[in-house]
Amino acid sequence: MNIRAVHTEDADRIRRIMKVAFEDEYRRMGQKQTRLPTMTDQLLGYYLDRTPEYSFVAEKKGGAVGFCLVCRWGTTAWMGPIAVLPPAQGTGIGRSMVEASIAALRDTGITTLGLETMPRSYRNLQFYSRLGLNFEQLTLDLSRVYRNGSEVDDGGERQRLELVSLADGMGAEQESALRAVTAISDLVSPGLDYRSEVELTGSHRLGDTILAFLDGTPVGFTIFHTEPYAKEEIHGTVRINTLLLAPPSGGEDTLDRLLESMITGLEKRFVASGFDAIIFRVPVRYRSARNILLRRGFAINHSDVRMTCDDLPEADRPGVIHLSKWE
Ligand SMILES: CC(C)(COP(=O)(O)OP(=O)(O)OC[C@H]1O[C@@H](n2cnc3c(N)ncnc32)[C@H](O)[C@@H]1OP(=O)(O)O)[C@@H](O)C(=O)NCCC(=O)NCCS
Repeated sequence: MNIRAVHTEDADRIRRIMKVAFEDEYRRMGQKQTRLPTMTDQLLGYYLDRTPEYSFVAEKKGGAVGFCLVCRWGTTAWMGPIAVLPPAQGTGIGRSMVEASIAALRDTGITTLGLETMPRSYRNLQFYSRLGLNFEQLTLDLSRVYRNGSEVDDGGERQRLELVSLADGMGAEQESALRAVTAISDLVSPGLDYRSEVELTGSHRLGDTILAFLDGTPVGFTIFHTEPYAKEEIHGTVRINTLLLAPPSGGEDTLDRLLESMITGLEKRFVASGFDAIIFRVPVRYRSARNILLRRGFAINHSDVRMTCDDLPEADRPGVIHLSKWE
């Protein structure tokens, strides 16, 4: 067995391994629905483009049998998806690939390293625990479907944030927006930097980034995807994968008011543009985010568990909001 860096030409094989391995695991977990939707070329291309230098493929004579993809945002990195073809499982391939990614990342100055996995897969919980990862928290998907006449609550509009889309800005404006993304990320967690994620989301045409301004100063942003993830999926869902808020001052009350204002603004904007579903990814540590969304009619419809390496935990500053997806 040989472990090597991932190439874009691995795309079809990776899609195949992922389908077979995850469907097998869903069956093992006793799920009724075991079919894994077919990932679009667009989403797979974006995954493979993220950080190929830390992402690996395991090969045997007949070709690739496993892969471990990695994503890095400044000093924060996470692994996923990871899969091994079922007949090759249990022989150390998964462990070797994950260890290769961790080793490649360790000396590069990262301070946070982890992954998200299915909380009901005891096999995965065991696998990652034996690799030295610890449980941090659940991450939830909270979603809402809008039908004709669905109302968007205006409650958050009292403290108004101005929301500006990156796609609307040109040249110098885009550069200053990207600098704001770096600065806000660093305020949320030192060294964290979502700039590459913003650029990749734009270049792969998966979605866009919206900056939030308070009295003319950028205090937050969201990176969202509007393109379907699966070939079977119909256009119309917005996935808010990342949302950061780091206001200069104010207590929890101010933070919650700003968050509600941002959520209100996003809901209104996306519903007005004709989208019929919005999904927020919420690490449960950010309780107010979950509570605001529940109050606004969102429902929990998916959970993962986030795990991190013992010596590389998450370390957000107090007084911020950091919604993120490691998947
Ligand atoms: C999770 C997965 C990548 C692990 O890969 P793998 O090649 O089977 O794992 P390894 O053979 O390297 O096993 C590593 C450890 O897990 C343990 N393990 C393997 N199979 C196991 C099983 N059925 N039950 C419990 N532990 C198991 C091994 O004992 C080994 O422990 P050790 O090295 O400390 O002795 C693979 O099972 C898979 O593709 N699963 C389906 C897709 C999935 O769920 N991916 C992860 C999503 S986050």
